[in-house]
Amino acid sequence: MDGLKVVTIGGGSSYTPELVEGFIKRYEDVPIRELWLVDIPEGKEKLEIVGSLAKRMVEKAGIPMKIHLTLDRREALKDADFVTTQLRVGLLNARVLDERIPLKYGVIGQETNGPGGLFKGLRTIPVILDICKDIEELCPNAWLINFTNPAGMVTEAVLRYSRIEKVVGLCNVPVGMKMSIAQLLGVESQRVHIDFAGLNHMVFGLNVYLDGVKVTDRVIDLLTSGDSSGVTMKNIIDMGWEKEFIRALGILPCPYHRYYYQTSKMLQHELEEANTVGTRAEVVKKVEAELFELYKDPELAIKPPQLEQRGGAYYSDAACNLIQSIYNDRKDIQPVNVRNNGAIASIPAESAVEVNCIITKDGPKPIAVGDLPVPVRGLVQQIKSFERVAAEAAVTGSYQTALLAMTINPLVPSDTVAKQILDEMLQAHRAYLPQFF
Ligand code: G6P
Repeated sequence: MDGLKVVTIGGGSSYTPELVEGFIKRYEDVPIRELWLVDIPEGKEKLEIVGSLAKRMVEKAGIPMKIHLTLDRREALKDADFVTTQLRVGLLNARVLDERIPLKYGVIGQETNGPGGLFKGLRTIPVILDICKDIEELCPNAWLINFTNPAGMVTEAVLRYSRIEKVVGLCNVPVGMKMSIAQLLGVESQRVHIDFAGLNHMVFGLNVYLDGVKVTDRVIDLLTSGDSSGVTMKNIIDMGWEKEFIRALGILPCPYHRYYYQTSKMLQHELEEANTVGTRAEVVKKVEAELFELYKDPELAIKPPQLEQRGGAYYSDAACNLIQSIYNDRKDIQPVNVRNNGAIASIPAESAVEVNCIITKDGPKPIAVGDLPVPVRGLVQQIKSFERVAAEAAVTGSYQTALLAMTINPLVPSDTVAKQILDEMLQAHRAYLPQFF
């Protein structure tokens, strides 16, 4: 049969219109015959709303892409070419707990970093590994493209604990950094190239080029010239960087580095937000409710611009570009999460890293960067160790391993606080952590 079969697990997500828009734009190069949106029974209503909007979008575009909505994952996966995962185990209510519980102990409460990141991983990894088993059986040639957070930890777990080789982890942080830096330079983003290397939500821009000419120092000047850096995501406050620090660092941090280099300021901000407008998940719940009201409008047949209020805006560009380049063997360069294979010297070869890759029909080929600069090398290694231990805890359900992961996380101040947070969060998330009980 002509054309591709794409399956999106977590298809009822408010982000789906992004993806559909991306597929429509690229239809000529990537002829998707069938797009299957899969969700769980609790997500049925959202799936129907988003699915109807997707159908209207495709109809408006006048392309023969068939949208299927289903709660039956196995039916959807049969003979798929690409599987994308964007699910949230425990939905946004679980994220609220990930953000609020650590704050009680004076620790950053964040979706993918610190205790919140650990628990999102513990809930998500077993589900993703189940999906991997289904893929192995029902569509063994498919590419698994994972956006589910914590994307780095999830990719690590798939590489270590499944038999799937064709897996790529994706994030919008590199795309977002590139767009913001282009804006700072006042140029179109296609003219900018960044050498990305590190881990997911722990990635650095080692060098920036404008039309092939290195402009790293100029960009560092721009980043440090005001009260804000101009490079952030909608979910992370931008309070600027200490000028001399970034100049001494000489490379570009990503927005998530603020949790590590500005911990007390970020914690203070989170506490203020939690006591006023609510934590990020609480804000996102309201944004989502508004988005779904818009999606219900039978006249709406495009992605509404309000979706850009979400931190994951433009992630579809990353996803669709990746699928397009694999399918067409474009051999262009994109930053993705893959097996390191020696690309970053100080990270184990078998671990997942986020690094520029050449995208071929056989998948992403990482571009070697050698060692990371000494001032950041240790932090990156520590986060990698945290991700590995966390993935092991998710698979084994071992309390001790989970405690190890919590304690070695740089955002957690002590073994005692680690244990207190772990115990409270294990109970709070009990329903989604069968491996521990
Ligand atoms: C970022 C990250 C994504 C994350 C999103 C959260 O940009 O790169 O991994 O999912 O923000 O956005 P939200 O609107 O849910 O806070």
